[in-house]
Amino acid sequence: MERHVTIVESTAVPTVPTVASLVWRDELATEVFAATLAQKAALRNAFIALHGDLGAGKTTLVRHLLRALGVQGRVKSPTYAVVEPYELPGLNVWHFDFYRFDDPREWEDAGFRDIFASPGLKLAEWPEKAARMLPVADLDIHLQTDTDQQRLVTLTAHTATGRALVSALPLQRPVPVTILPES
Ligand SMILES: Nc1ncnc2c1ncn2[C@@H]1O[C@H](COP(=O)(O)OP(=O)(O)OP(=O)(O)O)[C@@H](O)[C@H]1O
Ligand SMILES: [Mg+2]
Repeated sequence: MERHVTIVESTAVPTVPTVASLVWRDELATEVFAATLAQKAALRNAFIALHGDLGAGKTTLVRHLLRALGVQGRVKSPTYAVVEPYELPGLNVWHFDFYRFDDPREWEDAGFRDIFASPGLKLAEWPEKAARMLPVADLDIHLQTDTDQQRLVTLTAHTATGRALVSALPLQRPVPVTILPES
């Protein structure tokens, strides 16, 4: 008798969301998020791409993250240098701003390929400007300024590292509502 075997593919649902949204009402919310992210072990070898218009708050997030990781002194915006490196005990961090990046040869010549092949944390503003060179980000963070200056934030994890970064973050913080008595 012929026997048919049915192969059932595993459709395991990931327990961690790969896309999450949150709202930062002010810069303090950015700071709280950065401090939480800084605690994550997965950050030690990760690539986070930061998207958003001019003034969306990308550098601000990086500054708070670097401070939370222990960087002291001024955190410069790397718009002209393209990259600012930071050496912390047991952790190398590179902060890129590709806004002025327009020469693909610079990718090799400036050692960017080597950086992305090295362990450590890579943070990149304006990744769109070097899209052809960059690897897939572990985590994409999209920032958008809302009408009243608050920031709408979307986190998209593309890898296990990215999912580890967004797991257990305080994503849906309830917004306190005060109901004033009618006078
Ligand atoms: N969560 C926030 N709430 C309110 N204001 C913020 C927030 N994050 C940043 N800002 C303010 O927005 C301004 C611009 O931020 P920032 O320089 O970080 O933007 P950017 O995305 O890096 O811009 P660029 O593309 O020019 O590099 C700063 O004055 C900063 O204080
Ligand atoms: Mg910036």
